[in-house]
Amino acid sequence: MDKFVIRGGNPLIGTIRVSGAKNSALPCMAAAILTDEELILENIPQVRDIETERKLLASMGAQVEMCAGVSGHETILSCHSLSDPVAKYEIVKTMRASSLVLGPLIARAGAARVAMPGGCAIGGRPIDLHIKGLEKMGATIEQKHGYLEASAPRLHGAHIVFDKITVTGTEDLLMAAVLAEGETLLENCAREPEVVDLAALLTAMGADIRGAGTSTIRVRGVSRLHGARYRINPDRIEAGTFLVAGAITAGDLTVVGCNPKHLRAVVGKLEEAGAVIDSPAPDALRVRSNGKLRATDISTEEYPGFPTDMQAQFMALVTQAEGVSLIKENIFENRFMHVQELVRMGANIKVDGRTATVQGPARLSAAAVMCSDLRASASLVLAALIADGESIVDRVYHMDRGYEQIEEKLRGAGAEVQRMGNVFAPRSPELSTHTRV
Ligand code: UD1
Repeated sequence: MDKFVIRGGNPLIGTIRVSGAKNSALPCMAAAILTDEELILENIPQVRDIETERKLLASMGAQVEMCAGVSGHETILSCHSLSDPVAKYEIVKTMRASSLVLGPLIARAGAARVAMPGGCAIGGRPIDLHIKGLEKMGATIEQKHGYLEASAPRLHGAHIVFDKITVTGTEDLLMAAVLAEGETLLENCAREPEVVDLAALLTAMGADIRGAGTSTIRVRGVSRLHGARYRINPDRIEAGTFLVAGAITAGDLTVVGCNPKHLRAVVGKLEEAGAVIDSPAPDALRVRSNGKLRATDISTEEYPGFPTDMQAQFMALVTQAEGVSLIKENIFENRFMHVQELVRMGANIKVDGRTATVQGPARLSAAAVMCSDLRASASLVLAALIADGESIVDRVYHMDRGYEQIEEKLRGAGAEVQRMGNVFAPRSPELSTHTRV
């Protein structure tokens, strides 16, 4: 199992380029199911979750070509025939976002078998709202042998009010609605940029969608969608992680290829903590810090609030801030798995229910620590970058799910990070160019 060996103490100085957003790429790849024509997606990050989705689509009979391409990370998907509309447990269990294929499969094939995703480290993560919405659109869904078995001759439009804001739930129903008969009104939708990205792709494929990015989305169903070429937006969570890296190491780091508009909540909190941030170009943010950070409270919320996917990284940051910071996690029930590992490195953190109290600044000392989930692993890497000595961060496969070539990017800005084990390369450009699956 891969590990990172990180020697802390170097300020990060220079420039880091952001990859395409994993959480946009996943639903956009699932959207390929909705057409028998070719979909070309640019800026797909080469991370493990994308490789899992490639396997998932390929197992259903899709052709997925991952190319190096002039536009970088180009992926060509063709679901000309879907011989086996089944999302198998062996694949779904490794990536919960696999449930994103449920809506598109029912819309395209009139039937689907999708393994029920289990719990994961950060909580129960049910998909009841996906199911409820699809049933309202006319699908019959039964649970058998750990699978959801769904059928619907043709979905029809419906008025659906989400009981709770859900990102992949909004995306799943959006993909179902575009091919449904009549109009669908979705209320209390997620407003995340990834939903907007998906809606823009679907529109390029011929869908009729109004209101993506607001809490009310109106979809007029069409009888078919066609192929399209679309470029995935930059990853705001990866960008936010690098901004924290610049601030925590008292560095001077420019994060390029990002969308500053998507990072307002994170930038606001970094400034409150004492980092200086400016935007030297429309697609860049520069973070500087003299190492003197102030305690800052955060409370995770749906977009445009502070993202739960940045909570663990921000917690690492405020271990270095003067005073007491309160971190409230409102989205997931058990998203403090990084706390015990940060404490083992010397952080002073107490958890009470959904609130963590961080007393800083704490001198962190290098230790062997273990990643438990994707963003927890980012938090541990950030802590190791400032810890005194050499840390071993184990189980970095969690990190590989969502961060592309993280060690190379950090090394380029002066960090001392080495990978031990088998280098993760889902599809290196040389190997992957025009590989039919
Ligand atoms: C997505 C992101 C993930 C991010 C999360 C919240 C992807 C692939 N993943 O996950 O990185 O942390 O949004 O921003 O885009 N819920 C229900 N019933 C449902 C669906 C959700 O109760 O049917 C609950 C969840 O348990 C959770 C909350 O709603 O408490 C939000 O979850 P949701 O937005 O669905 O997260 P994901 O889409 O899985």
